[in-house]
Amino acid sequence: MSATTPVISATGLYTPPESISNAELVTSFNTYVERFNAAYAAEIAAGTVAELQPSSVEFIEKASGIKARHVISKAPILDPEIMAPRWAERPNEEISVLAEIGVKAAEDALARAGRAAADVDAVLCAASNMQRAYPAMAIEIQQELGIEGFGFDMNVACSSATFGIQTAADYVRAGHARSVLVVSPEVCSGHLNWRDRDSHFIFGDVATAVLVEAEDLAPRPHWEIVGTRLKTVFSNNIRNNFGFLNRATPDTAGAADKLFVQEGRKVFKEVVPMVATMIVEEAQRLGLEPAALRRLWLHQANQGMNRLISQRVLGHEASEDESPTVLDTYGNTSSAGSIIAFHLNSADLAPGDTGLICSFGAGYSAGTVFVRKVG
Ligand code: COA
Repeated sequence: MSATTPVISATGLYTPPESISNAELVTSFNTYVERFNAAYAAEIAAGTVAELQPSSVEFIEKASGIKARHVISKAPILDPEIMAPRWAERPNEEISVLAEIGVKAAEDALARAGRAAADVDAVLCAASNMQRAYPAMAIEIQQELGIEGFGFDMNVACSSATFGIQTAADYVRAGHARSVLVVSPEVCSGHLNWRDRDSHFIFGDVATAVLVEAEDLAPRPHWEIVGTRLKTVFSNNIRNNFGFLNRATPDTAGAADKLFVQEGRKVFKEVVPMVATMIVEEAQRLGLEPAALRRLWLHQANQGMNRLISQRVLGHEASEDESPTVLDTYGNTSSAGSIIAFHLNSADLAPGDTGLICSFGAGYSAGTVFVRKVG
């Protein structure tokens, strides 16, 4: 038992109660397309406006594996006149949306670890989108839970949670903290362009929390963090230009590049080999046989990507037991995806089993967290 060996004591999950099926999504999208094409019929006939094409349930499921996604604000997203989430702006005295769902996930993790919030030393809010510039979401979550110490926000897009886990693990290794909450409230419905046929089906909302602690403090069973590795390689293929230097002006209001945009095919082609190689090299560095990994909890963006990556790591097509999918009901939840997969599919593993939590996405960014169950 070591005071500086980091482990995962517990994870927590908050799933918004409302969900949108592909059929509901496509009905709304196609109503928008019909109305748009009717409204611009003359311009379309004159060739000055491009006719919009309908979406389809079959395409979405075949191209991505997504069947539904949870969202916080369903009705406005499905309203063809709005097609975006809407919530009333809250006064400063009220908790913000991101902090609210982050706290729920954190409370779940703390309860599972049997840990009082007062025993936690730090909160990292690691997510793709922050609700505001400051004060940090992490500090608001810290305040709400009654945690002393410190907190800060970090954003590494889809790899925010794994980068957060390594950061937390490093605090434990260095003796700067003994109990760290990594909270990932991912309200991806807010950065998604629900009018873009190529990507309108991709994302969902969720919040996860990971409690990283010193081994001598942790409850049992827990997960020893055997090794972590982070990687970033600049790419414009997944991008969101929203920021404080381009606040809505007549030029920028509603501009599609202030939301999520991607070259999906390029992402697929470039990220699969990068991540598969990274996993295999890191496993070897840690003295682990990739094919002997009991389970892969991969980033949940696309079923085809996960099939190819797990095949290259395990040497055969992974079963659902070896590489579980949550993408079908959650959609892509950015950095939370691999944590949801771990949270929902790890209790059955035996002491001594090793597995991998792995993220990849915009940046590009990728993170591996190899874990071993300790009973
Ligand atoms: N409904 C019906 N057809 C559609 C459609 C929709 N919603 N969207 C696109 N299509 C059509 C296209 O028009 C195209 O038609 P064409 O072949 O006649 O030109 C065809 O389907 C293929 O489009 P494409 O965009 O190349 O699809 P794809 O098979 O690459 O799948 C993604 C798209 C986004 C699902 C896939 O590329 C992907 O998941 N990439 C990785 C994404 C990722 O991990 N991103 C990280 C985000 S964090």
